[in-house]
Amino acid sequence: MTLKTSLTGIKPSGVPHLGNYLGAIRPALRLTETHRSIYFIADYHALTTERDPKRLQQQVYDIAAAWLACGLDPTKTLIYRQSDVIEVFELAWIFACVVATGQLERGHAYKDALEQGSPNAGIFNYPLLMAADIILYDADVVPVGRDQLQHLELARDIAVRVNHLYGEGTVVVPEALITEAPIVPGTDGRKMSKSYDNTIPLFAPAKQLRKEVMKFKSDSTPLEDAKEPEGALVFELYKTLASAEQAQALATKLRAGGYGWGHAKEDLFQAIDAEIAPYRARYETLRADEVAIDAILHRGADQARGVARRTMTRVRKAIGITR
Ligand code: ADP
Ligand code: TRP
Repeated sequence: MTLKTSLTGIKPSGVPHLGNYLGAIRPALRLTETHRSIYFIADYHALTTERDPKRLQQQVYDIAAAWLACGLDPTKTLIYRQSDVIEVFELAWIFACVVATGQLERGHAYKDALEQGSPNAGIFNYPLLMAADIILYDADVVPVGRDQLQHLELARDIAVRVNHLYGEGTVVVPEALITEAPIVPGTDGRKMSKSYDNTIPLFAPAKQLRKEVMKFKSDSTPLEDAKEPEGALVFELYKTLASAEQAQALATKLRAGGYGWGHAKEDLFQAIDAEIAPYRARYETLRADEVAIDAILHRGADQARGVARRTMTRVRKAIGITR
């Protein structure tokens, strides 16, 4: 039986944060047990917003070290820089020629950017490059946070359309694997995002982590009153980190009254810290050696290029660019 392929990317647009971990890194690493896995650093996607060359370079190492510290094994999982496999831009162009502009105009990220002013064309075309990232590697499943669902739907639409136009089997139709974690809010209440400057850095020291967790919004039900855990963010996050028994125990305490959201946040902090603490030290060591990271990323890119070229040979032939 051939293994299915799991693929995902993270933009190097800032220090990796708790949302990236719960929404993408952890679920993706779990899939490496059962899937052929391809996890890359979407540096050209970051260029839509990042204007500082030095920072962009540094942030690539931040994300790579985060993947490795959290347990990515580069002998089992392909890890590379998006920009090292230039075939992806060719495929993105092909996709641009089969997609209606209206579909891109309906993009949430583009519409949000439009409200803020006049977005660059990279933001408009962002979903095309993302579809190419996925389809170039024949990905079957794409583990991402809920915020990426629309992008995944577009990638699927594009794949279906290409197959309809040029023959079934020209490309693999990918599937989103939306992770169980809720969208983690940032310190300002919006979605936690490197672009909003509202993140809890994944490898923050325990003290800072605790302070940030205490800021999560909760309602002002008095301490002694009973509280409904289901649907409350603090509890939803706790569920993604604790065992089923621990989650049940916290729910019982909240429902009984006399246990405040502050206590629940303390429990949440403990659960996050227990999960992350082992990775912190490893991250520092890995991050300090950029030469070693480069070697891993280059090796990954060499292999990824092999896969990409095979796909492009097939696609070019199907569309009439080569015989
Ligand atoms: P950012 O928004 O910080 O730039 P990315 O867009 O690079 O993060 O996201 C990388 C991955 O992390 C995606 O799969 C995305 O769904 C996930 N992710 C990002 N922010 C969150 C969040 N706040 N909650 C859950 N998942 C998230
Ligand atoms: N757009 C994704 C994000 O902002 C990052 C990304 C780029 C990605 N290419 C991808 C995710 C391909 C999954 C698959 O989070």
